[in-house]
Amino acid sequence: QTIALVGVPTDIGAGHRGASMGPEALRVAQIAEKLRARGLDVIDRGNLHGPHNPWLPPVNGYRHLGEVVAWNTAVHGAIHHELQAGRLPIMLGGDHCLAIGSISAVARHCRERNKKLRVLWLDAHADFNTAAITPSGNIHGMPVACLCGNGPAELVEIGETTPATTPDVFRQIGIRSVDEGEKQLVREAKMAVHDMRHIDEVGMRRAMEEALADMDDDTHLHVSFDVDFLDPAIAPGVGTTVRGGPNYREAQLCMEMIADSGRLGSLDIVELNPAFDKRNQTAKLAVDLVESLFGKSTLLR
Ligand code: ARG
Ligand code: MN
Ligand code: MN
Ligand code: MN
Repeated sequence: QTIALVGVPTDIGAGHRGASMGPEALRVAQIAEKLRARGLDVIDRGNLHGPHNPWLPPVNGYRHLGEVVAWNTAVHGAIHHELQAGRLPIMLGGDHCLAIGSISAVARHCRERNKKLRVLWLDAHADFNTAAITPSGNIHGMPVACLCGNGPAELVEIGETTPATTPDVFRQIGIRSVDEGEKQLVREAKMAVHDMRHIDEVGMRRAMEEALADMDDDTHLHVSFDVDFLDPAIAPGVGTTVRGGPNYREAQLCMEMIADSGRLGSLDIVELNPAFDKRNQTAKLAVDLVESLFGKSTLLR
């Protein structure tokens, strides 16, 4: 299967500028070359285009709603096109609002092919906010809510079915920063959240066994990898660091267990912000972890 890299250079949904440089940082860290070295076929589609970031305050609880719609519409089309052609898309973000476009495309593809969808949401944040409860107005804090129908019509309606999906397809891992109003919504939605407390108590291995349970040959697995999932000690190159995340070995195990499932069908790499990074170390780490996601392992086999 061919991998298609799709760059989406925008920070339109974020509270800091710089995630727009994420796609190039991942290319500089040799994402394509490292995957090819694993024997994989990789095409780099270059970057999508969209409106610039006007850097305005929120209006009715949303910052840059029109621009977020424009970028996500482009993402939806591009990711659906790659899936349709049988390729495995990797979206090089960009901030996490772009998961609205990518996951709505994956959900649409699953409906067309009669497949079940499982989304692993690797993140420090639940990204389940709404305009009424957001502390920031930043739409990168809202994609999971929008995908489940709780958001502005323009975003909820991207794709062919409204809403794109439901909370039960999500397994959130690494969560350690959820806003007060947001917590209530996460509980009401009964979303499966493997937060850091749970990972501390049972370990990454059991948390991942739970998150990957009950998949079969008809399951499409999408991984939405927000780089702030990782502990800031190893991954400083993000705008919204939260201490107490997975360390290097825990993150490797997480990725290796996903690879072992054999189900990976699409991937987002988001929130990488080179403006906060040092010597591109966070991009290099992200690429190292993506190699593990595609089968690199320290196991002797
Ligand atoms: N919960 C905060 C907010 O809604 C932070 C969200 C951070 N999201 C992210 N994708 N980095 O503003
Ligand atoms: Mn399709
Ligand atoms: Mn996050
Ligand atoms: Mn996120």
